[in-house]
Amino acid sequence: MPLKNDLLVRAARCQPVERTPVWMMRQAGRYLPEYRAVRKDLPFLTLCKTVDLAVEVSLQPLRILGVDAVIMFSDILIPVEAMGLEVHLTEKTGPKMPHPVRSAADVEALRVPDPVETMPFVYDIIRTLKREIADAVPLLGFAGAPWTLAAYMIEGGSSKNYHIIKSLMYSEPAVFHRLMEKLADTQALYLKAQIEAGIDALQLFDSWAGELSPEDFATFALPYIRRVFEQVGSAVPRILYVNGSAHLLEGMAASGAEVLSIDWRTDLAEAVRRTQGRVALQGNLDPCRLLGPREGILRGVEDIRAKAKDAPGHIMNLGHGILPPTPVENAQTFIAAAQGRL
Ligand code: CP3
Repeated sequence: MPLKNDLLVRAARCQPVERTPVWMMRQAGRYLPEYRAVRKDLPFLTLCKTVDLAVEVSLQPLRILGVDAVIMFSDILIPVEAMGLEVHLTEKTGPKMPHPVRSAADVEALRVPDPVETMPFVYDIIRTLKREIADAVPLLGFAGAPWTLAAYMIEGGSSKNYHIIKSLMYSEPAVFHRLMEKLADTQALYLKAQIEAGIDALQLFDSWAGELSPEDFATFALPYIRRVFEQVGSAVPRILYVNGSAHLLEGMAASGAEVLSIDWRTDLAEAVRRTQGRVALQGNLDPCRLLGPREGILRGVEDIRAKAKDAPGHIMNLGHGILPPTPVENAQTFIAAAQGRL
């Protein structure tokens, strides 16, 4: 069935739209009391694996904010667990891998899993969401990009300066590249199965690849983003997000993505110039703007709209995920302003 609101898909394909579509990274999350109520006594990974509850929290932003796309509720670390690495997600410390990947033997021990066999709940969530959304808006799937996943796997958790992954990358490039190949193949299979299950667009999160110099990005991250996108194909639009990507835009534009998702540190008009009309752009309000007054949010949206006017396509979004202390009212203001309802 055709989508009733397909603005995001058209903007992503650089086709004409009546108005700018909008959604928010991490739109299903802790800033919503309704999310906290579902999450209350459940470990985070249990929420990801319980189909009815994951579907419920995915739909909350559609009901509460009226966003132009639903993103399936899951986490980028789900396939890492399926590859055979133990993953813990705790409230206080974020992700933790007690047995990080540090050697050739550790890399060899990892599987390239059959996604439907090892993560059936992901595909049940997508199929159930498609039924519940009833083609009102597009459904977004997603995956982590190889460099960002490798960072968690090698560091054993979040990191400040990424010195353990970079040390392995520079000292044992063959081991590092072997890990990246396995990650690219895993993510490609994972996303292809999401397309088969019904997603309308996808986002690849290379959240921490902005830590790399342009040259190292081209050597150690970009070839594997390309490998994922090549294997996935262009059946649905592909969005690439990198946080802190001001120095990487040209490389990102050569990734095969239809859309680049830009953080707030880059002026969107400059991003339009530097990508030369080759891709649509997504973003890029500083998520901290939603912690400030209404007038600042309205002005921020209008500034971005003006800067994006020559982009071949534009999807309004934040420059990174919405923060837990955000007042719901401010998120509503952002969405309504982006949709021209204010
Ligand atoms: O966008 C959405 O609403 C869909 C759900 C989604 C989550 N994680 C839910 C989540 C998506 C798309 C992600 C992606 C993700 N996960 C990224 C890339 C996006 C980004 O922020 O750059 C990364 C780096 C992760 C890894 C991860 N998951 C971290 C670092 C943490 C802990 C920090 C934090 O924000 O709490 C998580 C946990 C997580 N993933 C939560 C949510 C809603 C919070 C868990 C909770 O309920 O306590």
